[in-house]
Amino acid sequence: MAEFTLPKNSTLTPGKTFKAPPDARQVRRFEIYRWDPDTGENPRIDVYELDMEHCGPMVLDAILQIKNTIDSSLAFRRSCREGVCGSCAMNVNGKNTLVCTKAIDSYPGTIKIFPLPHLQVVKDLVPDMTHFYAQYAAIEPWIETQTSAPADTERLQSKEDRAKLDGLYECVLCACCSTSCPSYWWNSERYLGPAVLLQAYRWLADSRDEHTGERLDELEDPFKLYRCHTIMNCTDTCPKGLNPAKAIAEIKKLLVERQQG
Ligand code: SF4
Ligand code: SF4
Ligand code: FES
Repeated sequence: MAEFTLPKNSTLTPGKTFKAPPDARQVRRFEIYRWDPDTGENPRIDVYELDMEHCGPMVLDAILQIKNTIDSSLAFRRSCREGVCGSCAMNVNGKNTLVCTKAIDSYPGTIKIFPLPHLQVVKDLVPDMTHFYAQYAAIEPWIETQTSAPADTERLQSKEDRAKLDGLYECVLCACCSTSCPSYWWNSERYLGPAVLLQAYRWLADSRDEHTGERLDELEDPFKLYRCHTIMNCTDTCPKGLNPAKAIAEIKKLLVERQQG
């Protein structure tokens, strides 16, 4: 019979609580997942109370405030703080998002912050992205050509062809979509997931790329592409407002058109 209990060393335990100063007037409470592989201890939830009078407006500001003033051991990734590097993706109150573009005020009550789900955790809020990036590299995310480049100019696109990349080029590879996709949770070894498939379509849709046939050959696989069951979590969660489910449907359409050929 299947066992549904977690191994003892993976269950969450209560952690420390850091109370707000007694004179704090605008207190918000943050519960944050903590795990340090070097201690051998179970993961825990630490509670931090912050005075919003001394904190910026975004969830990332609260995390930085905690690291800078309460607990310097808190580990997380961030870089641009304006939604373009994709490195600050986390799960906040049950939904994946970029914490630098998410306002604290958009959540009522306690804010619960976890690492992206269904990835190995390196430490605290830092997930291991190695496999995700390897899958991205596998789709060869660059222009591939067979013809020689024009001698005295770049490979140009018409405005209409360039417009076909809108909704695709904006992807910041944050992995919010892939790590919210149930099909990716269960089959991430073989299913490429919505982020990488959106990227795959970005190169299929590029009028300058001349490897469409080879790219489709690579994707025509029961696992790499066809594990998408149109559950739509990916599109619902994308913090950049993109539609990976539609990109996946476009790839499937290209494969059908090729078969009908
Ligand atoms: S639409 Fe496809 S890729 Fe998106 S969440 Fe659902 S199964 Fe995953
Ligand atoms: S499609 Fe959206 S959620 Fe997915 S990786 Fe790109 S930006 Fe992130
Ligand atoms: S810090 Fe770059 S996207 Fe959030």
